Amino acid sequence: MDSREVAKFWEANADAWTRLARLGIDVFRDALNSPAFFSMLPPVHGLEGLDVGCGEGANTRHLARLGAKMMAVDIAPTFVRNAQAAEAADPLGVDYRIADGMALPFAGGSFDFVTAFMSLMDMPDPVRALHEASRVLRPGGFLQFSILHPCFTPPHRKVVRDAGGRARAIEIGGYFESTEGRVDTWWFSTLKPDERKQVEPFRTPIFHRTLSEWFDIVIGAGLLIDKIGEPTAGVGSVHEDAVVDDTRVAPLSLHIRATKRAPRARGKVLA
Ligand SMILES: C[S@@+](CC[C@H](N)C(=O)[O-])C[C@H]1O[C@@H](n2cnc3c(N)ncnc32)[C@H](O)[C@@H]1O
Repeated sequence: MDSREVAKFWEANADAWTRLARLGIDVFRDALNSPAFFSMLPPVHGLEGLDVGCGEGANTRHLARLGAKMMAVDIAPTFVRNAQAAEAADPLGVDYRIADGMALPFAGGSFDFVTAFMSLMDMPDPVRALHEASRVLRPGGFLQFSILHPCFTPPHRKVVRDAGGRARAIEIGGYFESTEGRVDTWWFSTLKPDERKQVEPFRTPIFHRTLSEWFDIVIGAGLLIDKIGEPTAGVGSVHEDAVVDDTRVAPLSLHIRATKRAPRARGKVLA
């Protein structure tokens, strides 16, 4: 599956996704994943940033409110239009454009930092996507991204629950099988059964890679890993939404921050 096909799936999801996310239905993002991401993020005030796979733009807007000058791209035109509408209603200076994260329309060294919230595992060629993110960074700039956790969301995942319905374990399988655009069909987990009858499920193509493949991809793009995060609701905590509560047992997402290496001085001999 190539980017054009991937874009069709996301385009079909975009309006319902925007509406539901803005109603607060994306509880995993809002209650756990994004707060954990932002608590790991270095200060961005005064920096120029690019958000890749911005969707309807909630996380981009948060970056702008933290004082960053933001550019944002998404491959689905409807997501970009919806993000632009939010910008028009409440201007934060964000420039949203339609673009493929695997072929960014920006000159090398254009940004101080790049973010990608839950979008890189949706791209057919993460090697290209990471090289593109690295290319548009200034030396010393950083990339911070979140993806579905490769160890706990491989092709087979089943949450094993106790009699009360709480997660006890995660059954996984197919870890070493790359998926080349396997289409998952799902709703936001907090959408009630009667509401599901009124909303088409999302259909999202996923490109699973193992943990070591992801590390190799980051390192191969000329980036040095600085920090890794695995958001959890916390052992012993109780959260009313299962998608958050389940992360007591194992994380659903993986966060990585990595810095673009400065070019080595010519002729310099390293000890
Ligand atoms: C799970 S959504 C996340 C949206 C947003 N970052 C958020 O956190 O709310 C994944 C996003 O990646 C976008 N996407 C998928 N493939 C892309 C590509 N090749 N280039 C740019 N965006 C892409 C989708 O259109 C979608 O908006």
